[in-house]
Amino acid sequence: MQPIAELLKEGAAAVGRPLADARLLPSRFYTSTEIFEAEKERIFRRNWVSVGHVAEIPKPGDRFRIDVAGEPLLIVRGRDGVVRALSAVCRHRAMLLAEGAGNAGTISCPYHKWTYALDGALMAAPLMEGASPLDEAACALPSFACEVWNGFIFVNLDGRAAPLAAALAPLGEELAPWKMDELEIVGRVVFDQRYNWKVLADNFMEAYHHFAIHPETFEPNYPAAMSQADEARGPFAALRMPHKGNELSEPLFPPLPDIPDEARRGFSVFNIYPSMLLAVFVDTVTWYRMEIESAGSFRLTIYLFAHPRSLDVPDAEALKEFLREAATAVHIEDIAACEGVQKGLESRMAVPGRLSPLEAAIHQHQQWLMGELVKA
Ligand code: FES
Ligand SMILES: [Fe+2]
Repeated sequence: MQPIAELLKEGAAAVGRPLADARLLPSRFYTSTEIFEAEKERIFRRNWVSVGHVAEIPKPGDRFRIDVAGEPLLIVRGRDGVVRALSAVCRHRAMLLAEGAGNAGTISCPYHKWTYALDGALMAAPLMEGASPLDEAACALPSFACEVWNGFIFVNLDGRAAPLAAALAPLGEELAPWKMDELEIVGRVVFDQRYNWKVLADNFMEAYHHFAIHPETFEPNYPAAMSQADEARGPFAALRMPHKGNELSEPLFPPLPDIPDEARRGFSVFNIYPSMLLAVFVDTVTWYRMEIESAGSFRLTIYLFAHPRSLDVPDAEALKEFLREAATAVHIEDIAACEGVQKGLESRMAVPGRLSPLEAAIHQHQQWLMGELVKA
């Protein structure tokens, strides 16, 4: 087994080449538990990680559970309207405080009913008479840094990441016409995936595979050869998928009025590092949320969004259903590729293969990942 320091050096060398000579990260970056642990520590704990959208928790008391880097969190909207990321680990005997999503005026542990306020303060601990008084500060649920950007909720576990909005300013400006903080969720499809999270990130950020994997769904209108990544300009990558012949795409729903015409001549996908995969169409937005579990597994939730004004059409329900089915069909096509790649990466014969210029966004992401992994 190769020591991790050596592997990191090899990774840095692989991604340090210029794009024309670029290679994929060595296969152990996709398979080894040591690398996965390093990613949790140095990437997912130290950076802003997207966990949800404000549309999931519109009212005080709304909450949902999610793990970030294995850390159980409860994302809650407080009585003051503020969205918080609280530890979901009970301060009594560490029971997980909730699963799934819901609404209540308090947070109550299912095990012995210790009860917390929506900001994490302990309100009640039944049958503790006879014990010395509880230390309020020690018994409150700890909270983590939490920011809302364009309606998306982000968490930074170590609390030391620079504010998110400044780093994403150029992207925020581009996405403003979509009014992402007002989006409605029109579908959510969940998949338990058995491959490394970066296999999906790589797949999402290149359209090179359109002619082979999506010959009927994407290639006819969004040909592989026309896709192009932007130059790197922040902690995110952007890939443009022009519509063939530079024609206007036919939207499903009426787009918002301020969306520029040029955005209708195709669509764009983004990876907001480390792992927020966003596809922005003129009338809808798709988000692939990855809840990473191990080197070889993660839970994927595909979110489909549209603005309420776009949904004000007579056949909205049928169109939503069509959108859910289309998104599921496309992802099922991608799963076959992603599972095949993972199996291949687990082989001793896997080599850090050369990348096409059409895979520039993968190269950018991997350069960023390596930069984070080798930071002190
Ligand atoms: S573990 Fe939560 S109340 Fe006992
Ligand atoms: Fe694909």
